[in-house]
Amino acid sequence: MPLFYLRLNQLIIISNNKIYHFLLIIFICFFGFSCHKTTKKIYTIGFSQCVASDKWRQNMLEGMKRELAFNDNIQFIYKNADGNSKKQIQQVKELLEQNIDLLIISPNEAEPLTPIVNEVYTGGIPVIVVDRKISSSFYTAYVGADNYEVGNLAGEYTANLLKGKGNIIEVSGLPGSSPAIERGNGFANAIKKYPSLKIIKEVAGDWLKDSSYKEILRLSKEAEEDADLIFAHNDVMAVGAYEALRTLNPNDNKKIIGVDALPGKGAGLQFITNKIITASLLYPTGGEEAIQVAVKILNKENFTKENILQTSVVDSTNVRLMKLQSDKISAQQKDIQRQQNVLSEQIRIYDNQRTFNNILIVALSLVFLLGTTVFYSWKKNKRITQKLKLQNEEISRQSNQLIEMSEKAEIAHQAKLNFFTNISHEFRTPLTLIFAPLGELIANAKLPQDTRQALQLIQRNAMRLYRLVNQLMDFRKIEFKKMKPHVSEIDLVSFAREIVDSFKVLAKNKNIDLEFITSERNLFIWIDPTMMDKVIFNVLSNAFKFTNEYGLIHLTISKDTTNAIIKIEDNGIGMTKDVIDHAFEPFFQGVYENYKGTGLGLALSKELMELHHGSISVKSERRKGSIFEIVLPLGNAHFEKSEFESDANKEAISNEHADIYTTDLYNINNIPERDFGAALSNYLTLLIIEDNNEMRDYLAARLGTEYHIIEAPDGNSALRSAFDEVPDLILCDIVIPGKNGLELTQIFKSDVRTSHIPVILLTAKDQENQKIEGMETQADAYITKPFNLLFLQKTIKSLLRNREKIKDHYSGEILSEEKSQVSKKEDRKFMIDFTAIVENNISNDKFGVNDICRELGISRIQLYRKVKTVLNCNVNDYIVTTRLQKAKYYMQHEKLSISEIAFKSGFSSAAYFSTVFKLKFGVTPSAFKEN
Ligand code: FRU
Repeated sequence: MPLFYLRLNQLIIISNNKIYHFLLIIFICFFGFSCHKTTKKIYTIGFSQCVASDKWRQNMLEGMKRELAFNDNIQFIYKNADGNSKKQIQQVKELLEQNIDLLIISPNEAEPLTPIVNEVYTGGIPVIVVDRKISSSFYTAYVGADNYEVGNLAGEYTANLLKGKGNIIEVSGLPGSSPAIERGNGFANAIKKYPSLKIIKEVAGDWLKDSSYKEILRLSKEAEEDADLIFAHNDVMAVGAYEALRTLNPNDNKKIIGVDALPGKGAGLQFITNKIITASLLYPTGGEEAIQVAVKILNKENFTKENILQTSVVDSTNVRLMKLQSDKISAQQKDIQRQQNVLSEQIRIYDNQRTFNNILIVALSLVFLLGTTVFYSWKKNKRITQKLKLQNEEISRQSNQLIEMSEKAEIAHQAKLNFFTNISHEFRTPLTLIFAPLGELIANAKLPQDTRQALQLIQRNAMRLYRLVNQLMDFRKIEFKKMKPHVSEIDLVSFAREIVDSFKVLAKNKNIDLEFITSERNLFIWIDPTMMDKVIFNVLSNAFKFTNEYGLIHLTISKDTTNAIIKIEDNGIGMTKDVIDHAFEPFFQGVYENYKGTGLGLALSKELMELHHGSISVKSERRKGSIFEIVLPLGNAHFEKSEFESDANKEAISNEHADIYTTDLYNINNIPERDFGAALSNYLTLLIIEDNNEMRDYLAARLGTEYHIIEAPDGNSALRSAFDEVPDLILCDIVIPGKNGLELTQIFKSDVRTSHIPVILLTAKDQENQKIEGMETQADAYITKPFNLLFLQKTIKSLLRNREKIKDHYSGEILSEEKSQVSKKEDRKFMIDFTAIVENNISNDKFGVNDICRELGISRIQLYRKVKTVLNCNVNDYIVTTRLQKAKYYMQHEKLSISEIAFKSGFSSAAYFSTVFKLKFGVTPSAFKEN
């Protein structure tokens, strides 16, 4: 179960991000889908109506609107020209500016309207002409009844009604309009067939009732007496005629025929029913049909150009049926209208609901999304909280442990320090009791030499012990902040000079060039002299400890704007980086060669410097020496009031310290338990080439107690180390990455820089032929693994000792025949090259080490090491000795003055030559020459 829970949990976490994406996609799809509506192109139809005042035109417009209701993508612009052709032309232009897609026009008059219709048509806009026509065929479609047929049918009906005999008055429509012309023609042609039928008068009623009324009244007699029938081109004009006839004669009963037969109140069918007119020719408006054709054209569907609507005669015989039909149609149309209204309402409701639904879906999706987020966040938070809780518990457990441990450590630390303090006190009393009688004993002049030496040994060691005890106690005081400086203004120059002076005898004993250097006459600073001389004594005594005979130790005092600076420089053995890093840490026992420090002196110095608001630091390089720098701020503003003391007795204290710090450095070579001098001069470097880390560490640890170790895990780094460091012996595994041990040995033995170095092959290859192969590389020894460590150590020692013997053998005066005895071929070659370069340049007083390095193509360090190893002498000493040998030769074999000899032997002056010559041979050059 927990496993399942974990898996599910992981699944949820992994898919957490995906869920968001998924939901987002669903949301977008759904929203996009629900918002989607088929985008129909929107069209604009312009309808130019010639006149709108009569019922017939209103009927036409209603028919169009009904049809338009089925096409919601059509915008409809309607213009009424009020029976004015000019106005209608202007309105068509306006429609064009409104960017209509199709024009429907019922032209007021044919001729005047033809050009503008042509223009629209040829301009690419479809034109549907309804009811009335234009004079050209430049239109897209026509919708309307055939007016000729209307007229013709009216003529036939008239003939029938008048039984082929009688007089007729014709009231025509607007003369220039096409229905008036066509109806007139149709009627005339029908009447023509009946010779006894006559159109006795033709008047223009202009499609208007009033005009008709006036015209009939104007005819008066003809109308009243002569005419048997009046044919009016539409029903309204027919009614006008009826009313005029009634005006002329209220009993008139003439037959009147109209056109239109429009249903509804005050229209044709009602006039027939009411016997106002006799008959009417059905003339449909064609509103619906016009829109249907327009839709086909706009949708680029097939359509008929000429759409002729049916006509028929309506009179008292069929008017009832017609009325019923038209009422029915009207009722149906009303139904359709109502249904359309309902439908529109439904669509509106549906639209509203859809919008609402969309909003709801969005809201729900958001709620779901947020809900999911909140849920996962809550789950995640819960997990994190739980984890944090556990971590907190763990941390508090650990911190409790730490507190406990640190409390224990503090107790242990205190106990240790208390122990040190107590033991230090215990030591000091007996030590002072040793010093007093010891001093008396040594002062006794009658003392035999060996006893004196033994007593001095005791004195030195007691003094060391005393110094260590003092340092421990000082350290303890600092730890407890019980040590405060008591500063007074002191001349640092004389203060430091005194300390340096107290090392002079020691320096002379060790042939060390001890110098006190400063350009300041006085340098007054505020220090606690007791503390400061501990620091300077400590650093100086260290310098003596680690500087070989004939080395140098320089103490320099200088100042800058804010500090006094004391530099103590030596050219002793120097420190490794590891030792430098920890040099000032208490109880750190840096291994200086094979000497371990107490770890107190420098740590104490550092604490004391901090009490002075100053600092102590070191720069050091192995085999080159060390420079300690002590920096003390000038002035006394950095000390507290309680830290000032004016009567410090530095004289007495300095003396005491001089003893403490210098006594055990005397005759250092005679100290039996540690042969420092010998250790330093014999300090040797081993290069361990081994790829197995454990094996290399083991060898380094075991051999590191006696030698300085360089390690190389592979062939390439081995080559680098060998040439850079020129070790005294190489321990080399055979199977290693990069160049193998055999290749390396061959390289070492054939390169002048490394040929003198003994190589031990240390390998698991223990077959005889492998051993032979190994020794063929000129390796000095072949030891197989597993090996006996003691045997390895002895082999190393033996090889190094042999090397020493060879060196001893060739040291001393350098004679060319002895040089040739150097065993190794490469070493001999080096010696020959080296001595030849020196010989060739001997008369050049500017000639030196750099010239030799350049000619041999090796570095200074390589040259020094090589010469030291092969000839056991210093390069410069060799050059001087060679110059002197040359000079000696000239004195014995050539008659030259001392200055000439000096010059030919490369000495810069005769005086310098004489000094060096006397130092070397004990006599002056002139004395030697005389002898
Ligand atoms: C209506 C009308 C109709 C006639 C038609 C001819 O304006 O006069 O009565 O049939 O126009 O265009």
